[in-house]
Amino acid sequence: MTTNAFVIGHPINHSRSPLIHGTWLAEHGIDGTYNAIDVAPGDLSAFFERLRAGEFAGGNVTIPHKEAVFALCDSVDPLARTIGAVNTLVTQDGKVHGTNTDYLGFLGNLDAGAPGWSDALEHAVVLGAGGAARAILVALQSRGVKHIHLFNRTLETAQRLAAELGNGVTAHGFAEFSEIAPRTRLVVNTSSVGMHGTRFDNLDLALLPDTAVVTDIVYVPLETPLLADAKALGLKTVDGLGMLLHQAVPGFEAWFGVRPRVTTDLRA
Ligand code: ATR
Repeated sequence: MTTNAFVIGHPINHSRSPLIHGTWLAEHGIDGTYNAIDVAPGDLSAFFERLRAGEFAGGNVTIPHKEAVFALCDSVDPLARTIGAVNTLVTQDGKVHGTNTDYLGFLGNLDAGAPGWSDALEHAVVLGAGGAARAILVALQSRGVKHIHLFNRTLETAQRLAAELGNGVTAHGFAEFSEIAPRTRLVVNTSSVGMHGTRFDNLDLALLPDTAVVTDIVYVPLETPLLADAKALGLKTVDGLGMLLHQAVPGFEAWFGVRPRVTTDLRA
């Protein structure tokens, strides 16, 4: 019997997920489908009935549904609750379980691009305290990073998030970067700075140790100004496209029963 999966969003035409999952389905000769389905917010609850009826093994959820699906799922992973978004649904016995694989995608991408990055990692810097920062902070906490320094233009937003997540997360204004940089071995940009070719003008990356890794979750452009600057200083960089590819792995495995490999041809 054919196993079906999906990505739902509104609009949905920009999604790269069908290409990723389609490549893996073909590679493993699986009798399955993965389609992008446009579901308007008002139709979300009816779509969940199709899920419960067994039409799909599960699928991905993207904008604008990542928060709304909480109320519709029969169960939700505690980490997805902390992150505040569900991006993956798995159906079993007429019930829908919601999870978030973004933090696993972030970890998988760094593990592949900078092996050993988290070994004895004591200080990490996270730039930006918006919705996207939450999955990154949870990921770093899950690897036991002792001190996670959260920098944001609006300090209060960072302070609120740090107080909520606890476990080593502290909030900073950018003026403190030069003090923290020398003991930092990882810098992650989670903010939208970089999407339009813009850079943080108050970050002196030259203060980082030469063993530091710099990564950006923005992947358009693939080489953000932050990554270009880090590369020019000879620092190890990991771009954000791999996070998208790696976050797809746990979903595919849950729906189709095979753990796929992230290969470079998927980046094309
Ligand atoms: P997302 O949910 O995708 O993370 P968001 O919630 O709008 O998006 O958050 C965007 C992040 O980028 C925020 O941390 C924002 O900083 P503020 O909290 O001060 O708004 C940050 N950001 C956006 N533009 C910025 C800029 N020009 N300089 C510095 N930070 C910026």
